[in-house]
Amino acid sequence: MNQAEGLKRLVGNAGEKGVPNTAGKLSRVICITSGKGGVGKSNLAVNLSLVLSQQGLRVVLFDGDLGMANVDVLMGLYPPYNLTDFLYEKKTLREIMALGPCGLRVIPGGSGIAQLANATPSQQDRFMNGLLELEGEVDLVLIDTSAGLGYNVLRFVSAAHELIVVTTPEPTAITDAYSIIKVVSNYKLHPRVGLVVNRVRSEEEALQVSHKIERVSQQYLDITVDYLGSVYEDVKVGEAVRKQAPFVISHPRSKAAESVRKLAAKLNGDFCSREETQGLSGFVKKIFKLLS
Ligand SMILES: Nc1ncnc2c1ncn2[C@@H]1O[C@H](COP(=O)(O)OP(=O)(O)OP(=O)(O)O)[C@@H](O)[C@H]1O
Ligand SMILES: [Mg+2]
Repeated sequence: MNQAEGLKRLVGNAGEKGVPNTAGKLSRVICITSGKGGVGKSNLAVNLSLVLSQQGLRVVLFDGDLGMANVDVLMGLYPPYNLTDFLYEKKTLREIMALGPCGLRVIPGGSGIAQLANATPSQQDRFMNGLLELEGEVDLVLIDTSAGLGYNVLRFVSAAHELIVVTTPEPTAITDAYSIIKVVSNYKLHPRVGLVVNRVRSEEEALQVSHKIERVSQQYLDITVDYLGSVYEDVKVGEAVRKQAPFVISHPRSKAAESVRKLAAKLNGDFCSREETQGLSGFVKKIFKLLS
């Protein structure tokens, strides 16, 4: 990548301020998580963000994974900066954002996600102000987290306005998804969670999995599970990962892409019609409240 192109990507459309966000609402923050690792969170986060961007929403994808920078790799982006550069005051939040396809903006977390946990008051202020500056120019922030309920994941899960739990039809993934939902219920983090079943071979299989989780949650937990939809098992997903080109763009007619478009339509209708959130200020306040 030459330097000019790199700069263009970095700046992206982040400089276009002041456009009121869709329907004049405050930004929504949705966190994507799972109990078991490797169930497809990052692929879902990337492809869902892209479809929602294609549909005209202004989306920021926050890579909140503690481990490797998955989201960048899946999109073939090589952002030179991440949250660490921001936290240590070398760069602004806008400067560390990378521009992906369809106007999607990406905040690469990198090791900054771990550093966020020990952020000093001045770093917290910078993060808060940086995010608040985005209010009014972003409709949706999607956060891709690591699997399991580590402290960092819990902070994103708790602070986000909505939560999507991803599972596959494997029994281990289902029981781990239930464990996450149980923690969310026990700590009263959210009254409801969305559920996506990935890697299904049929709609019946997806419904069986979702019914199982919905039923047990209803019976034993004080929480509502909303089944949002499924994504088909599709060899194109692996091919797209190897090509570092998200499948909704590289294989738009694949079954997986079709599933994600359906999911995006449902999310767009469901989530965006829900009650007003406290926007990004509510999100950042909660993130740091949990820290203390
Ligand atoms: N619908 C699908 N069909 C086929 N393969 C899939 C599908 N979804 C995910 N995969 C495969 O699973 C792998 C893991 O996906 P991904 O990295 O998105 O999972 P993850 O939940 O983010 O993992 P981690 O917990 O490590 O962050 C992908 O590289 C891909 O090969
Ligand atoms: Mg991941």
